[in-house]
Amino acid sequence: MLSKKMEAEFNTQINKEMYSAYLYLAMSTYCANVGCCGYASWLKVQANEEMEHAMKMYDYVLERGGDVVLEAIEKPQSTWNNLVDVCENVLKHEQYVTSCINHLMGVAVEEKDYASNSFLTWYVNEQIEEEANADELCKKTKFAGDDKNAILLLNEKLAERK
Ligand SMILES: [Fe+2]
Ligand SMILES: [Fe+2]
Repeated sequence: MLSKKMEAEFNTQINKEMYSAYLYLAMSTYCANVGCCGYASWLKVQANEEMEHAMKMYDYVLERGGDVVLEAIEKPQSTWNNLVDVCENVLKHEQYVTSCINHLMGVAVEEKDYASNSFLTWYVNEQIEEEANADELCKKTKFAGDDKNAILLLNEKLAERK
């Protein structure tokens, strides 16, 4: 059985994972609108993954006899300055999510909730990959700079992500 404190923390994180999906979908829309379909597609896959993160947590809370309360999802911004701005904000957001997961893990440790601790290890490891992917995206996009050919090539590569 989940403690009330742990349950509340998980509910907050479920909302944040759903917000992440919303944010990446908004970024995907922006990229599609500026003609970067590869970036749009990459971000759409990213948004789907965030929903999976939310649902994995949703299932866990119910499995542990907890209650899921779905709160309103914050409206994400809808426009960015350019591709580099989008990528920098993906990285910034992933770094923020890592801090949230670390906080959640901290509460699990504090509460001696070993099941949640074990469950959250997956998210701790996932965030390593999330930050690395976002960082790579950022660096490549910055490196391409104003070179339209390089951006087009990157765009095609990013479209390959399933
Ligand atoms: Fe996530
Ligand atoms: Fe993420």
